[in-house]
Amino acid sequence: ILTSSCRNFSIIAHIDHGKSTLADRSLTGTIDKKGKGNQQFLDKLKVERDRGITDENLTPHSMIHTYNGQRYLLNLIDTPGHVDFSWEVSRSLAACQGALLLVDATQGVQAQSLSVFHVAKDRGLEIVPILNKIDLPAAQPNLIAAQMHSTFDITPDPDPILRISAKTGLGVEAVLKAIIERVPPPQILSEGKGERGGEGRFKGFLFDSSYDRYRGVISLVSVQSGVLRKGDKIQSHHTRKRYDVIDLGIMSPEEVSTESLREGQVGYVTCNMKESSEAHIGDTLHRVGELVDPMPGFKPSKAMVYAGVFPVDSNDFPKLEESIKRLTLTDRSVTISRESSTALGQGCRLGFLGTLHMDVFRQRLEDEYDASIIVTAPTVPYKVVYKDKKEKFVSNPTDFPDVLDSSGKVKEVQEPIVTASIIVPEEYLGEMMDLCFTHRATAMDHRYLDSSGRILLTAVLPLSEIVTDFFDKLKSRSSGFASFDYEDAGYQASNLVKMSFLLNSKPVDALALIVHRSAEQEVGRLWVKKLHKVIPRQLFEVPIQAAVGNKIVARETLSAVRADVTAGLYGGHYERKLKHLNNQKESKKKMKRIGNVDLPQEAFFDILSTK
Ligand code: GTP
Repeated sequence: ILTSSCRNFSIIAHIDHGKSTLADRSLTGTIDKKGKGNQQFLDKLKVERDRGITDENLTPHSMIHTYNGQRYLLNLIDTPGHVDFSWEVSRSLAACQGALLLVDATQGVQAQSLSVFHVAKDRGLEIVPILNKIDLPAAQPNLIAAQMHSTFDITPDPDPILRISAKTGLGVEAVLKAIIERVPPPQILSEGKGERGGEGRFKGFLFDSSYDRYRGVISLVSVQSGVLRKGDKIQSHHTRKRYDVIDLGIMSPEEVSTESLREGQVGYVTCNMKESSEAHIGDTLHRVGELVDPMPGFKPSKAMVYAGVFPVDSNDFPKLEESIKRLTLTDRSVTISRESSTALGQGCRLGFLGTLHMDVFRQRLEDEYDASIIVTAPTVPYKVVYKDKKEKFVSNPTDFPDVLDSSGKVKEVQEPIVTASIIVPEEYLGEMMDLCFTHRATAMDHRYLDSSGRILLTAVLPLSEIVTDFFDKLKSRSSGFASFDYEDAGYQASNLVKMSFLLNSKPVDALALIVHRSAEQEVGRLWVKKLHKVIPRQLFEVPIQAAVGNKIVARETLSAVRADVTAGLYGGHYERKLKHLNNQKESKKKMKRIGNVDLPQEAFFDILSTK
């Protein structure tokens, strides 16, 4: 098959809008969702279902389709549906020339599709808009089509939106036709053409990889020029390491081994690559001795949400760390460093691409580690700007400058901000604006998407405001109708302070927070109340305080209890008394002592997991 007959495309769709059904219908028999390497994505799915975000990885798969007597090779390259994975989104879109934008005719456009659409549009992909599920009685194709016109800036004349039912197969033929006619074939680089008997030099773009225990790293490669064959010797442009190609082929959707991968094709390559860290996403592969210009790489993924992770029983740290390491073999976008806390002992500080990513990882970690973990309040990477223009990123409240002006060296602190998109029926607009406002939104704006009163509300918000319970509030205050997504919008100076919590006048490091000055009272009171509820009473009175610098902003007092464990036992039974006292001693061992206060590690679990 000639390169001019290849089409590489992806499907952008909100969860349940019919991506899998369409892929099933149009491309192959059945899609094996349980295929190897997919566990991570099935897990993601669990969290996403709750949150209404789609991120299923179908891996690329290919089919031959005959159209007008000519054979075409169609490659569907899957794209995660959420911008948390924006890096994965851009890397998979980088291997495509077109995208099917699939919208459920009963549900309408959801905010999550918007941001992925923007990425696709920015990359210059040909967008094929499709309305799905028109067979359903509840479908409102005209209304939703109008919504698509205005949301995605589609000129309605002539209307490019295809109306289909992926389930019944109605209109699916037209989708294949549109892929062939509207999506351009991959551009072939003519680099080095003529050498090797008319073939260009092999140049492969590594856009994804997975790991298999027996075969090592499996790389997904989009061939930009030339041909790759089994047995070829290739080299990574990035690491300069050399490999022998052991196997290669296309995904259909199972791996189908082929003799070669030619320019324009997308497929898998296995070689003697042992560690997934050797497969650099965005790397360029070439034949040994045949240098090529590297593909423009990607910005490496940047962690945007950090949290400390600790075992509930501090003796379990080695086991926890091992579980984390094992998981990061398949998810390299998580950054890890060790962290130790006087309150929680040894732990790890993990960096995630976003909150969804964090929730997914946490769930996987609890499964893998097979026990509860303590996760500290999430923080975002703040930027501390010094008067001498130096900058430092701080992602752990412990490292945050105490009171800004004390050293005189800090000019300002900046925090990451995002542009949020919320799509919601108009009756909830007031609630949503209020929600955004209480989360320090600026530059709020809204417009109607269609005549039924669906509204797109956009707002600029600090990322820190949406990493905790924003999403839950959004759902409950819109009776579940709002859909939400956000995109990175850079950094902005902000009046932030570090808040510490003191037990009996001693700070508990694991609980430190970074808050906006305007919220210090409210946050302080909230957390102090929480602590009051969770911390067991002691033999003496314990003040619980929230402090900013040396100013106390909130306080509760835990009253004393007389813990005479033997009080309930009537006289005489000396052995029994002794046994109880010993028991008490045992349980004391597991306690953390902060400011003379005995705190069971579980208390932290309760404090940090209650909202
Ligand atoms: P995930 O697989 O969960 O990521 O969602 P998806 O976007 O891939 O949607 P999927 O293909 O699983 O479809 C979701 C549901 O909608 C399934 O129950 C499908 O049977 C149904 N469905 C998909 N397309 C159509 C359609 O054209 N008409 C009708 N009536 N149902 C459809």
